[in-house]
Amino acid sequence: MTDKKFILVTGGAGYIGSHTVVELHRNGFVPVIVDDFRNSSRKVLKGIENLIGVKPIIFDVDVCDKEALNEVFKQYYFEGVIHFAANKAVGESVSNPLKYYRNNVIGLVNCLELMQMHSVNCFLFSSSCTVYGQPENDIMVSENSPFIKANSPYGATKQIGERIIEDVYLSTKKSRFLNLRYFNPIGSHSSCEIGEFPIGTPDNLIPFVTQTAIGKRDSLTVFGNDYNTPDGTCIRDYIHVVDLANAHVKGLVWLLQQTDGAHESVNIGTGKGTSVKEIIDIFEKESGLSLNWRYGERRPGDVEQIFANNQKANLLLNWKPELSINQAISDAWNWEKKLKSEE
Ligand code: UD1
Repeated sequence: MTDKKFILVTGGAGYIGSHTVVELHRNGFVPVIVDDFRNSSRKVLKGIENLIGVKPIIFDVDVCDKEALNEVFKQYYFEGVIHFAANKAVGESVSNPLKYYRNNVIGLVNCLELMQMHSVNCFLFSSSCTVYGQPENDIMVSENSPFIKANSPYGATKQIGERIIEDVYLSTKKSRFLNLRYFNPIGSHSSCEIGEFPIGTPDNLIPFVTQTAIGKRDSLTVFGNDYNTPDGTCIRDYIHVVDLANAHVKGLVWLLQQTDGAHESVNIGTGKGTSVKEIIDIFEKESGLSLNWRYGERRPGDVEQIFANNQKANLLLNWKPELSINQAISDAWNWEKKLKSEE
């Protein structure tokens, strides 16, 4: 036996995963990364090493490969599992739903089965505010807000994932489960050692903004300016990825403190909505540049506005966001410049 607190982090080389690995290490845990790099870059490992001072433990394994994942479970006594490894592009999930059901559902089931086999009791799941769809009345959603039918297979996999976890919890009421429902993670580590490596054309707003500013894209299209919001553009709750990473540490600490079975879902957002137009204004202020952008058609499936009621995160996990949206956008921009300097 060892007193090291090994934590399995599936998808730990990805955008949110890599930032979480760094914060776990800073808080005394030993993250063990499982990632097959299909959607992440090996370069991130050097960045993690520069930040934590040791080479991260990494297994090049697909979570859908249960036998290979079992070999990792056999090598460590895991205190907990944080399960990030999943596909996340909403548009792609509409054109290729089976890829999403396969990777996101089977990967989750494999993790849960292996946890049972190896008596691992704490599980933290990457969920999403997408489980709420477009809220009908209160746009500041709390964890009790109803799920409505997901408008993409990606969203459905998060709803199904939460359902699977609930059923597993109810079957024994012994293990401990926490779903973190992320709002919109943005930014990167302020050291510029790690950040997002979008593969191909980014779907998400912030990488598209920074890639346009650096000259990789001609112009940003703002998807719709006729929404029922003050400036007509969609509103989201953008959260700094380092704050989100720290929510995982707090979530894990909470899981480890529970003596009985437990099952909770918690929103992780700032509690503040920001429109697409406001994001452009902040970017221009932080970078001192004028962004090439124009209004275009609405993007099918977009939710008009949503932001988090984050009280439960504060009360249950003792978590609060600490970094501003200006900081997040400035960090994202510095990261984009660093990527450019390395080309
Ligand atoms: C959605 C999901 C989120 C999920 C994420 C995964 C919701 C509310 N959110 O985020 O849970 O984790 O996908 O990718 O369902 N935009 C532009 N131009 C662009 C790109 C985006 O105007 O080129 C706008 C979008 O219309 C939207 C906002 O920017 O209003 C944010 O878009 P994006 O970054 O793609 O995230 P969501 O769609 O909110």
